Amino acid sequence: MESGQQLDWKNLGFGYHPTDYNVRCYYRNGQWGEWEVSSSDMITIPMASTCLHYGQESFEGLKAFRGKDGKVRVFRPEENAARMQHTSRGILMPELPTERFLEALDMVLHLNKDFIPPYESGASLYIRPLMIGLGKQVGVSPASEYMFLMFVTPVGAYFKSGFRPSPMAIMRGYDRAAPLGTGQYKVGGNYAASLRSGVLAHDKGYSAVIYLDAKEKLYIDECGPANFFGIRGKSYITPKSPSILPSITNKSLMQLAEDMGLTVECRPVHVEELATFDEAGACGTAAVISPILRVDDLDEDKSYVISKDGNPGPICTALYERLRAIQYGDYPDNHGWVRLYEDL
Ligand code: PLP
Ligand code: COI
Repeated sequence: MESGQQLDWKNLGFGYHPTDYNVRCYYRNGQWGEWEVSSSDMITIPMASTCLHYGQESFEGLKAFRGKDGKVRVFRPEENAARMQHTSRGILMPELPTERFLEALDMVLHLNKDFIPPYESGASLYIRPLMIGLGKQVGVSPASEYMFLMFVTPVGAYFKSGFRPSPMAIMRGYDRAAPLGTGQYKVGGNYAASLRSGVLAHDKGYSAVIYLDAKEKLYIDECGPANFFGIRGKSYITPKSPSILPSITNKSLMQLAEDMGLTVECRPVHVEELATFDEAGACGTAAVISPILRVDDLDEDKSYVISKDGNPGPICTALYERLRAIQYGDYPDNHGWVRLYEDL
């Protein structure tokens, strides 16, 4: 077993490090059972499980941060619980009530407290809730049994560039999600659909793919595993689309933008508006804010330069700093976003 104390906190990428424990619970006969604590990172499930064949699974991603004051803060976990319930309704899985989700969170943090990175490292503890359809069946229908589990792993920056602006690509030959499909749910199939284009883009030196709406290819959807926003003058502009994941980070940035006196526009964003943005970024739990350097529309042979000097812009910087400060406890939690732990 790896001890949290031995990790090189400052140089963690966004990888998987085993931790001490995870927590699990099963849904059987129409109800969720008791928690089980496991020190194994293996699971045993029937080979005819619906999650393996028909993609009946959902996951979430949230983070815990250790502050300068030694306390631990988790950012908006109730929102993740609610989004997981939304996903459950979307793909016919049972909903895990918010209080059960929070119970799992409290347990998994206490059981793995040595893995919560220290304040100075800038790293955090990534929390991964997962729900999978079990059951033994080959017909395409919802399972009768499910497993929910929550594990944690310490992480650093998701994009190698961190807060340095990086180039992103539009690849019109690929879609991530159909307009009335599962794009708004956090299900594995959406990520499977994005793997091919994501790897192609990385191989060409891009940090992410910016997906356009699948129907008309006119509007920006999102940036791989993160939402998109653009800044023009004093406006924070972010896509409204039925096929994107409703990002909790984006929702928070919209509030912070408003707090800073910006106007927030959540509406369809035409791809050609890229030419008009002073700044732009990808935002999400893993990505935090990853400023965008340039967007290359590869099939149209067009390039939109966003950051003229290669640096993050002032508004992206202010939003990033405010968000991080709230998460680490360096700025007052005026919106009641943080779940605080004094005993970790
Ligand atoms: N969009 C996609 C496809 C994602 O996977 C994520 C990550 O969770 C996000 C957006 C950002 O969402 P959040 O800010 O809730 O992490
Ligand atoms: C997150 O930001 O939490 C994500 O889920 C993105 C990715 C790692 C899938």
